[in-house]
Amino acid sequence: MVMIAPSLLSADFGNLKEEIARCEAAGADLFHVDVMDGHYVGNITIGPVVVKGIRKYANVPLDVHLMITNPERYAAAFCEAGADYLVAHVEAPGDTGGALRIAREMGVKTGIAINPETAAKSAMALASLVDLVLVMSVHPGFAGQKFIPDVLEKIAPLREAMRPDAVIEIDGGLNPETAERAREAGVDIIVAGSAIFKADDMAGMIETLRG
Ligand code: DX5
Ligand code: ZN
Repeated sequence: MVMIAPSLLSADFGNLKEEIARCEAAGADLFHVDVMDGHYVGNITIGPVVVKGIRKYANVPLDVHLMITNPERYAAAFCEAGADYLVAHVEAPGDTGGALRIAREMGVKTGIAINPETAAKSAMALASLVDLVLVMSVHPGFAGQKFIPDVLEKIAPLREAMRPDAVIEIDGGLNPETAERAREAGVDIIVAGSAIFKADDMAGMIETLRG
């Protein structure tokens, strides 16, 4: 069964503790935490201090998606703050492999994220080492963008390169319609921000995304 990860970027940050509880009551399997530094992407969002706050109230794993340059500089801080998966971009300037090594040494699961325009083949070497591969279906930076369907073609070749116990996550523009296509393509985890937080019936939306 597909797992659903609400992206907390779309939550009400003035009310994060209740938002976390609301998502868990609605059936969230893990939380997706979008970390942006204003360099790798044009937006600035969440630092380790906020991840620590989320960890305090969340009962499900945290999947920390680093959209930052030099992920190796911050890997330890995010792992200490409570990341269960530390995910860094293969395209990020800096030492993505080094960031993942730090996480692994700290007992945290590792992941790579791949932008829409990045070919699957350029990520194969790292994909074979990690616990999770995050296929971006929008350009990273903001919630609420339109799903790019071409990225679904990368799922099968990535799966072949990955360890048998590793999982594929898709992130960006997921709604009931695009989630169905992603499930058909074989993803294990669906991330959704706008669809989940804008839904009148959050539990119903999570159930629909799960299929
Ligand atoms: C985009 C982020 C996504 C985003 C998802 O840079 O990585 O996780 O918050 O939001 P929706 O589901 O609204 O596209
Ligand atoms: Zn994300």
